[in-house]
Order: sequence, then C-alpha cells, then structure tokens
Amino acid sequence: MAAREIGYDGVMPVYIDDIARFEGQPVTLRGWLHRRRSSGKIHFLTVRDGTGFIQAVMSKAAVGEEVFERADHLGQETSLAVEGTVRADARAPGGYEIDVAGLEVFGESHDYPITPKEHGVDYLLDRRHLWIRSPRQQAILRIRHAVVDAVRDFFNSRGFTLADTPIFTPAACEGTTTLFPVQYFDDATAYLAQSGQLYNEANIMALGRVYCFGPTFRAEKSKTRRHLTEFWMVEPEMAFATLDDAIELGEALVVAVVAQVLETRQRELATLERNVSALERVQAPFPRITYDEAVETLNANGQAFEWGGDFGGTDETVLAEQFDRPVAVHRFPSKIKAFYMKSDADRPELSLSVDILAPEGYGEIIGGGQREDDLDVLLARIKTHDLPQEAFEWYLDLRRYGTVPHSGFGMGIERLLAWLCGLEHLREAIPYPRMLYRLYP
Ligand code: 4AD
Ligand code: MG
Repeated sequence: MAAREIGYDGVMPVYIDDIARFEGQPVTLRGWLHRRRSSGKIHFLTVRDGTGFIQAVMSKAAVGEEVFERADHLGQETSLAVEGTVRADARAPGGYEIDVAGLEVFGESHDYPITPKEHGVDYLLDRRHLWIRSPRQQAILRIRHAVVDAVRDFFNSRGFTLADTPIFTPAACEGTTTLFPVQYFDDATAYLAQSGQLYNEANIMALGRVYCFGPTFRAEKSKTRRHLTEFWMVEPEMAFATLDDAIELGEALVVAVVAQVLETRQRELATLERNVSALERVQAPFPRITYDEAVETLNANGQAFEWGGDFGGTDETVLAEQFDRPVAVHRFPSKIKAFYMKSDADRPELSLSVDILAPEGYGEIIGGGQREDDLDVLLARIKTHDLPQEAFEWYLDLRRYGTVPHSGFGMGIERLLAWLCGLEHLREAIPYPRMLYRLYP
C-alpha cells in the first residue's frame, strides 16, 4: 500500500480496549506515542489511547520512504492516528498488534519531561498533569473509577438514596482545628465541608437511608502519607440503626468493593504488581475488637500505649498486622471522638464508635458510629466541646422533631484505593492531590 496521510472516511476509529473484535480488519487508532524503537526497516510504535496500549508495527515496505522517515522522528507523547490491520499475536501484551498502513500526526511532542528513567516524586508532582499519562498512574485512576462505581452500585442496590450535602458550611463537624475558612460575601465566614454527616442525619429523617459522596476538606497540617487536605468520602447514614448495623454495613461495603475491583481490574492490578491474594482474603466476617482489647494488643506487641489516647499511624499498623483482613475497632473513649457520638449505656466514658483498619499498614479506612439522639445530652456535648450552639440549632431540631436511633460512617476513597493498589502514599490515589505544601497544578 502506498504511503499516504489517512482520513477517517471508510476506516473505523476504534479503541484499543475493543481491538479483539476487529481481528483481520483495517482500523484507525487515535492516541499518543508512548514509546518507539526501531530495527532499521521496521518501527515499533507503542500507542496508547486511554483504554490501553498496543504495538503498531510499521515497515518501510508498507508505508513508503516518506512516512517511514517521519515516524523515525516522532517524540514521546506525539498525538497521532495510525491506520492498519489488526493481527493476533500471542507474544503481544494485549494479544494483538497493528500492521501500520498509514500515519497522521495531530500534535508533535518534543523533549517530553517524563521519561522511562526514574524521577523524584516532587518533580513528578510538579508535572502531575503529565504524570497521569504514565501506565502506572493510568492504572490507579482506572481502579479509582472502579471503586467509585462499586461504591455507588453497593448503595444503590440496597435501597439507599443519594442525597448531596453542601460544601460551604456554617460550622465544624469533625473538630474546629482542621477547618478551611472561606470568605462568604461581605460579612460571613463559611467553612469547606469536613464531612456531610450532619446533613445526612437530617436527610435520613426524610429518606430513611441515604449516602453522600463528594469531596471533603481538612486543614490537616500533617505531612503523613495518609493525609490529604482534599479527599473524597462516601458517607452512608441509616435511621433506626445501631453501631452494630453500621459495622455490618461497613464490612459488606468493603467486601463488595474489593470483589468488584478484583473482578473488573485484573489488568490494572497486574500493571501495579499488586499481590491480589491479599485482597482475595477480604471476606466477611471481619474481626471485631474493642478499643480496650486494641490497647492490650498494642502493649502485648511491644507498642507501648496508654488507655485514653488516639491511635497513631504506627499503632494502627501494629493492630492491623494481627489480622489477615480489615479489623473493626469499636467503643473508643468519648474524649477522643467527635461531639455527636452516642455514649455506651454500659460504660458512659466510651462512645459507640468504630474505625475499620485496613491490613498491610494502610490504617483507618472507615470511621463512624451511632449518633447521639437525645436533645439534652447533645446540648451538653455542644457546650463541653465549646461549639457555637446557634450554628447547630438546625441539627438540634432533628432531636426535637421525631428523633430516632441512627448510625453511619465515612469511608475515604483515597485511603481505600491506596490499600487496594498497594500505594506508598495517598498522593497517587487522586488525580490532583492537595496537601500541606501542594496546590499545583
Ligand atoms: O474518621 P473521619 O474523620 O469521620 C468522619 O468524618 C465522619 N463524620 C464520617 C461519618 O461518620 N459520616 O473520616 C472518615 C474517613 C476516614 O476513615 C478516612 O478514610 C478518611 O475519611 N479521611 C481522610 N482521607 C484522606 N485524608 C485525610 N486527611 C482524611 N481524614 C479522614
Ligand atoms: Mg476517624
């Protein structure tokens, strides 16, 4: 076939993901040049199109001198279309290759700053808008999508109603030290939502079982690998539900999401070289231990810990190491938990709270519990926590007009994803991470 610039008339543009359906047929692929190598008379172009990678084999005989010469100068990330015939090849990573008959260049790319060699993480984060093109980052983002999908499927198939909660809020939910204030017109301050929970509590009194799913903000001045200042959280809430109901729901959610990711994202998990057998063990029931037992476990395992404190990252890791699947730790001291937590009737110094910790050192992925549903107790709590009562009047109304026992939790998507993907740090679990020292790009 003569060398020529291709047009789209007559030759179907297809996606790499779909290529098996076109074996033996001429197709057009549009994408970017991931890698190129040459052996004199043949160029091997690895093309990616967002759905996968494929090798396009271009011989001088097939495309002619001019196109062949042009292809020899294409830089990494040049956007292009290749036209050619799909050929099955058992040795090819995806099982297929393209025998190229034509080439069109959309946008050239020279001196692409991210090469197969090692780059430092700050260098990569400064170029996050490009870094996401690399195979590993693509795999993570694709798994993220599968996680979000699985979470939605889970709640939608169980009778929960999605009810969105506001981002601009008048008051704190999770403590006043991690609020991001925003000037709200002339004389008001709004805070970026730390959680949708308080609004979920109102929404269940209308809808029974709800979830919200959106970005949340914490002015965390910590630089740990487990903290972002902007992260996505899914928060279910249920009327007429106890702490145990919340634990059961959290367990079922994690099991369902892990199963769906294992089913739909084998290829991406392989790209990440993730040990999937660790994920296959994630089955119900999860072990459940009290905070008291957790403290004993820590001390018995050489991690000195005093009753009454909150667990740090290392404590969570040591605790989780005792188990081969996530563990639910419940009944933390009220003192270290938020104002809305209901107290344990048997031991009022404890709250009906739960954290679910991921294995393999990934720490808390779920936090929640049963909410205080008594007006007077809640009023007292707002006072001892030094919160402005007027900002919570609407929340107190929920206890004035038909209060019910209710429970729920929040699951951080990046925490879950970092564990599923085996990431060292949460910063790779979101397209554009926001951290103490990172607001660019
Ligand atoms: O334990 P947290 O603070 O609980 C709440 O916000 C409750 N109001 C949720 C509820 O009951 N509706 O946060 C819940 C989860 C954590 O378990 C963790 O997965 C994630 O949100 N998370 C963070 N993820 C990334 N960066 C941070 N700074 C995070 N803080 C919490
Ligand atoms: Mg928590």
